[in-house]
Amino acid sequence: MKRLKENMLKEKEEGRKKGKLKIKKGKEMKEMTVLQKTGLAYYDAHHPHHNRPLWKNFLKLVRKKKPDVFVFGGDNMNFDAIDHWMKEKKRERKMEGKRILAEYTEFKKDMLDPLEKALPKDCRKIWLNGNHEDWVELAIDKERGGEGYWEIENNLHLKERGWEVYKYGEYAKVGKVYFIHGQYTNQAHAKKTVNVYEKNVVYGHVHSPQTYAKITPVENEPHTGMSLPCGCEMNPDFMRNRPHSWVNGFLVFYFTKKIFSLFPVISIFDGKFIAPSGKRY
Ligand SMILES: [Fe+2]
Repeated sequence: MKRLKENMLKEKEEGRKKGKLKIKKGKEMKEMTVLQKTGLAYYDAHHPHHNRPLWKNFLKLVRKKKPDVFVFGGDNMNFDAIDHWMKEKKRERKMEGKRILAEYTEFKKDMLDPLEKALPKDCRKIWLNGNHEDWVELAIDKERGGEGYWEIENNLHLKERGWEVYKYGEYAKVGKVYFIHGQYTNQAHAKKTVNVYEKNVVYGHVHSPQTYAKITPVENEPHTGMSLPCGCEMNPDFMRNRPHSWVNGFLVFYFTKKIFSLFPVISIFDGKFIAPSGKRY
């Protein structure tokens, strides 16, 4: 016990010399919280096919956690009105009455406005375009009349609202972690992603959790891949009861410049979940 106390005092003295630790206890705590940040990531909401009870509970967590970083991971909107699969299959009745501008309005009302209200003012807001957001560009390529009217930025004004916007296929870096929407759907998609990116990568797209790690012999540098659960309904109309391996949930993460920890949260009970802190939502 005596030796432990001596070691602690020694460490404190050394830290003081490096200017890393403050003398007063309160200030030490303050410095710790400045270095470590909190993040939340929500992927594949597919609005208006999002899991509404989960989203409602998730917003409660957002208010509680006050994240420093929020990642809206792509396929945030489903874009039913320009669903090229439906069009190609001539499923005209499913397309009836769908309007892209109305979808933007509903998305703002259901998800974007309440989310922004829940996030702290200084939160870094990251928006990744997924393959569904990319449909907008494909639709404008086919029907040029939509140019100037259908674009995400012209309707959601994300940059004006303070979001960093990343095109489909681009990445956002947070500490040592690279957030992408995701692109591989093979069985070992986490392994494939790590082998291609050779970084620590978090992604969605497959709607199903999976992890893979590779430690290179050079300086033992770790490369990890983690796919996240999704925020959408389990059997949306467009799936037509097809079997799948989707799981609902999101990511809580903590990070500094050098280290990070990822806590995927699974919700399989009507949008209810228990957060990493143990609090029930
Ligand atoms: Fe998706």
